[in-house]
Amino acid sequence: MRLRNIARSKNIVENHQVVINNPKKYKNHWFEVFKNNNPIHIEVGMGKGQFIIEKAISNPQINYVGIERYTSVLLRALERLSGRESENINSIEPQTLNNLRFICMDAREITEVFGEDEVSKIYLNFSDPWPKSRHASRRLTSVEFLKRYQQILKKEGKLEFKTDNVDLFDFSLWQIREGKWNLEATTKDLHQDKTLNQNNIMTEYEEKFSGEGLKICKLICTPPKIL
Ligand SMILES: C[S@@+](CC[C@H](N)C(=O)[O-])C[C@H]1O[C@@H](n2cnc3c(N)ncnc32)[C@H](O)[C@@H]1O
Repeated sequence: MRLRNIARSKNIVENHQVVINNPKKYKNHWFEVFKNNNPIHIEVGMGKGQFIIEKAISNPQINYVGIERYTSVLLRALERLSGRESENINSIEPQTLNNLRFICMDAREITEVFGEDEVSKIYLNFSDPWPKSRHASRRLTSVEFLKRYQQILKKEGKLEFKTDNVDLFDFSLWQIREGKWNLEATTKDLHQDKTLNQNNIMTEYEEKFSGEGLKICKLICTPPKIL
C-alpha cells in the first residue's frame, strides 16, 4: 500500500507523540518507552492501523509497536487514533494509548530496533505479495525475514500471519519449513474456523477481501528450538 504522498505527512508523523523517531536508541530498552516490562507485540506492515489500534484498546496489559514503511500510510493510522483529519491532527490531544507506539521504518532493520528475546509476538497481516520470484526475499515471510524475527522473538514467542493470497501463503509455509520453524496451526478459511477465528480482529485488507468473497488464510508458528 502506498498512498498519494500527502504534503506535510512526514512533518506530522515525525512530531507525533505516538511515533518513535529514533527507535534504534531503544533496542533492549523498550521498557523505558512503555515504563513497564509488559510483553511487546509488534505488527510489521501495519498499514492504516485498524488491527493494532483495536488490539491495544482491548489488551492494556500488552505493549504494541506498529511498523510501517510510508509516512503517508502512517498518517492515516494517526488520524484513526485521534479521530480527526490531518488538518486538525495536531490541534487536539490525541486519544493516547499508553501501550501503543508506531515506527516509520523498513522492517529490514528490525534487529537494530529490538534486542534478543525482546518481542513476544509478531503479527504479519496481508503482507505485500511481491509476486516476481526475483523479489522473493522482500516478502515479509521469506527465510531472510524469518531469520530477523528469530533474533528478536522470545523462545516461546509466536508469529501470526494472515493473507488472502494463496500463493504467498503456500510460499510462507514452505519458508517456515525451510527455516525449521514449528507450525502450530494453519487454515485456508479462517472465518469458518471456529478455533482460529475466536477473537479475530479484522484488518482493513481483511474486511475488503473477505467482503469480495475471498477466503482468508492464517498460520501460527514458533521459532526453531536451538538445542
Ligand atoms: C497490503 S498492506 C496491509 C496493511 C494492513 N496490515 C492490513 O492488513 O490492512 C501492507 C503494508 O505493509 C507495508 N510494508 C511492506 N513492506 C514493508 C517493510 N519492509 N517494512 C515496513 N512496512 C512494510 C506497506 O507499506 C503496506 O502499508
